[in-house]
Amino acid sequence: MTELKILISREQIATRVTAMAADITRDFAGEQVIFVGVLKGAAIFLSDLARQVKLEATFDFIGVSSYGNRPSPAQELKSGWDSTGEVRLTKDADQSMQGKNVILVEDILDTGLTLTYLKKLILARQPKTFRIAALLDKPSRRKQPIQADYVGFSIPDEFVVGYGLDYAERYRNLPDICVVPRE
Ligand code: PRP
Repeated sequence: MTELKILISREQIATRVTAMAADITRDFAGEQVIFVGVLKGAAIFLSDLARQVKLEATFDFIGVSSYGNRPSPAQELKSGWDSTGEVRLTKDADQSMQGKNVILVEDILDTGLTLTYLKKLILARQPKTFRIAALLDKPSRRKQPIQADYVGFSIPDEFVVGYGLDYAERYRNLPDICVVPRE
């Protein structure tokens, strides 16, 4: 397998995830929470984060896909891809969110289209509270004015893989967050 340059090491991720979990534990002291992971990228982050949150918690997962002509992986690597902004639900959560503390867990907040759609969807279900935890944030790419409540790392516009993030479905199992060179 090609060696990729590490942007954020597994040690840095672990330290930051521990701190995020401590923030969530403090903010929701005495309460129960539902972690809702966005498939598939958030699965690893959710499992590490949730295991360090010292609260009564349940898990759920939600799946979305974006409309638009997703280019070939090589083209996506070169210039990214911009969906039409329409997002479609491919898998709904199983649990009711009404009156619950919902923490939506994402691997990366990029244009913000996905989270804007999911925020609207979840708020319509009348949770008691709604928060977003995103491991990575690429503010320079934002098209919708949405922010996460808990952010791991703010990163430049690099094509990143590992720790759940993929390039054409590969590299999700890398323990570090790495950069795929665009050239
Ligand atoms: C990625 C990521 C977010 C979304 C963020 O998902 O996991 O869900 O894109 O992008 P946005 O802010 O521009 O909407 P992707 O569609 O690559 O699916 P995956 O999680 O299965 O890799």
